[in-house]
Amino acid sequence: MPMKHSTYSVIIIGSGIAGLYAAIKLSETVNLPDGILLLTKSQLSECNSRYAQGGIVGVLPENKPDSISLHIADTIKAGCGLCDFNVVKFISENSQYAIKDLMKYGVEFDRNDKNELNFTLEGAHSVRRILHVGGDATGYGIEKALVNKVKNDPVISSNITIYEQTLAADLLVDSKNKCRGVISYNSATKEYETVYAPVTILATGGTGQIYKYTTNPSVTTGDGLALGIRANAKIKDMEFIQFHPTALSLENDDSRFLISESVRGEGAKLINDKGEYFMENHPQKDLAPRDVVARAIYSQLSRGNRVFLDATLIEISKFKSRFPNIYKNCMDNGIDVTKDYIPVSPAAHYCMGGIKTEINGKTSIDNLYAIGEVACTSLHGANRLASNSLLECVVSAYELVNTLSNANLQPSNLIDEKIMKTIKKYTDDDLESNDETDAEELKQKLKNIMWENVGIIRTESSLLRALSEVNKLNAVFNEKDKCNSIEEYEFRNMLYVAKSIISAAMARKESIGAHYRADSIKPLPLNDKKIEDSADGAKVIA
Ligand code: FAD
Ligand code: SIN
Repeated sequence: MPMKHSTYSVIIIGSGIAGLYAAIKLSETVNLPDGILLLTKSQLSECNSRYAQGGIVGVLPENKPDSISLHIADTIKAGCGLCDFNVVKFISENSQYAIKDLMKYGVEFDRNDKNELNFTLEGAHSVRRILHVGGDATGYGIEKALVNKVKNDPVISSNITIYEQTLAADLLVDSKNKCRGVISYNSATKEYETVYAPVTILATGGTGQIYKYTTNPSVTTGDGLALGIRANAKIKDMEFIQFHPTALSLENDDSRFLISESVRGEGAKLINDKGEYFMENHPQKDLAPRDVVARAIYSQLSRGNRVFLDATLIEISKFKSRFPNIYKNCMDNGIDVTKDYIPVSPAAHYCMGGIKTEINGKTSIDNLYAIGEVACTSLHGANRLASNSLLECVVSAYELVNTLSNANLQPSNLIDEKIMKTIKKYTDDDLESNDETDAEELKQKLKNIMWENVGIIRTESSLLRALSEVNKLNAVFNEKDKCNSIEEYEFRNMLYVAKSIISAAMARKESIGAHYRADSIKPLPLNDKKIEDSADGAKVIA
């Protein structure tokens, strides 16, 4: 079957904050003879970014108690020392410029009565330094402003072609390890297209949907990571999956709406059904790092206790104005936060690992860049400090654009045999798979396997069990390249991601940060040392 071909100066895959910000900046500052193609597999504004609640780190000179060195120290401590110091420093130093730039693009951060920026607190931050929009709608506020720029700014929009409902199915990487573009698949028309470009940027977000319980929307299936793995890009830190401690946990409902950490930052406390505020004994109490709080809740739940967030400690008018969406969501579910405790449990939230990159998104494959959650710049180490992710998206995208400002963005027509072979997988009808699979059912099976065996607590035997079960699913799926639907592509990609997490988790035998091995043979390192006396395998308590 013949396939449509096209050429652009830059392909951006993903329309979260990383992808949109990169598109805007490129469009403003770089000469793009063939323009930008922005591919996104759902609607333009659907992504993790849109649901971000707590905020974005702003290390600003006017916020006196704060400083770059304090933010660096907090980030590295939360990351258990596995962060790259230079990356942390660079991102921290550039936070003020990122915030200013977002404001220039129309983002309206919340302010107090004196019209000063309002800073909030989250776990493991030593000072209030987190900026928010619309109380608890930070991601929505930023995404809306960036979508507006991309669509309605006459100069910017004229450089950008947007394909919605279009999934990047494969990268075109030649035998010299150079990325030449992508194969795209339009899920509405079922048409494929070969898109060539001298630069391809993965901004496809994280992997939350790999787990049964997650705060992430359905698009977050780790596609970019899987494309990177298929193309032999270097991958890093996949054992570090962050489980957010407080997702709303309702009976007979597997969805997990986030109850922002900033609710604890404003005074709420975790409590069990015996009336015990069980984080009180930890030096940082309810604002200990996320991995510590998630394990403490897991420990409560595994002892048969129920866990709640007591938000009645926050004055009600303050709660309503600071957390309007959380308030409404709780009310809609029959929880009146003025008198009821909010039932919570941990859920997969963020992937610290990803495609190994430099700060500007440069990967191990020439002409291929990865920015945002799909990338691993080593900012986060073993556990991400809250609200550092949105900041990383913006700073990495900015640096990438700087890198490309002097690049030659002329397309090359050199297509070698390796690329032809990849294209053939999608054009050759003989290779088309007619096997009908119920991708949604397979996804659910995979999500259960990962939750049960590769979740908050892992052991050698749980990981081996997961590997064997995932291999069985792989066999059922028949290792397809070309798939019949977007759901099949997502499942294909989730298999790659699952195997990558399992093998990284098997390789790291010690517990550190978000990777907790109940069968750890090495002493608990760094910040976990503070809790090692009370840590007893699967029943670790903070
Ligand atoms: P995303 O915003 O996830 O965007 C990825 C895009 O890629 C989407 O448009 C998706 O459709 C598209 N895509 C994926 N695969 C393909 C494909 N194969 N082809 C085409 N398109 C594809 N972080 C903070 O710093 N502060 C917070 O307050 C905060 N709160 C959060 C709250 C929630 C509920 C969640 C889920 C996350 C939160 N995070 C927060 C994390 C943060 O939101 C994400 O890490 C960040 O938004 C990732 O941005 P991104 O641009 O890399 O990816
Ligand atoms: C939250 O609001 O709790 C999420 C913040 C984050 O993931 O950084």
